[in-house]
Amino acid sequence: MRQALVAGNWKMHGGLKANAVLMQELVDGVAALDRVDVSVCPPFVYVPQVSQCSGDKIALGAQNLATEVSGAFTGEVSGEMLKELGCAYVIVGHSERRTLYGEDDDCVAVKFARALDAGLKPILCVGESLEQRESGVTEAVISQQLDAVLERSDISAFAQAVIAYEPVWAIGTGRTASPEQAQAVHAHIRQRLAKHDAKIAAQIQILYGGSVKPDNAAELFQQADIDGGLIGGASLKAADFLAICRAA
Ligand code: G3H
Repeated sequence: MRQALVAGNWKMHGGLKANAVLMQELVDGVAALDRVDVSVCPPFVYVPQVSQCSGDKIALGAQNLATEVSGAFTGEVSGEMLKELGCAYVIVGHSERRTLYGEDDDCVAVKFARALDAGLKPILCVGESLEQRESGVTEAVISQQLDAVLERSDISAFAQAVIAYEPVWAIGTGRTASPEQAQAVHAHIRQRLAKHDAKIAAQIQILYGGSVKPDNAAELFQQADIDGGLIGGASLKAADFLAICRAA
């Protein structure tokens, strides 16, 4: 039986005052939840603030990490730094990183390995574009994204990782994948990993992300291979995020 996980990706949102209010509401709200792991991933600069006020039921995550450990890499933040500040998770290969910042499969694979080296749990994002879905290559795209990581890090690395399936066409668009569409891809991901190690495939948490809201979360999370969600917009409102956590 896999424990559900709901992680909030704040993206480039937040502010000291707003974060303090949001975190207080979340800490109060999650006190009553015990069947779901909850995490928030604020922008780097707010990691110390959120670490101070996240309590013991909300795990801290970051949205990205450097491919390098340390050195002359202006503007970069290493996994070790995030770990030192209290992060447990780090999002790797989000589609916004892939499409807007040119992160290819190799870069994502390096970041995945770096996260593990630093003692962080990577939340590896995979997902197809609308064009790819309409051309019928969704499973091939997902397989390629997974295989790039499997080539660098052995399947055993996935025992310490989370996967998030996020169809690019569903992110921030209000257009969510249907539960059946999402379930089909989640099952494909699990089967792909099972070719390497059935036990790890059965145990890994696979989250769905892309326009998850309080009113569609429950039917998505009821699917056999969907173990929670990676939530963007709705993670910025405590009432919505908590409602999604309760649905998991
Ligand atoms: O990381 C989260 C995803 O990009 C989903 O974002 O819930 O705003 O569609 P969204």
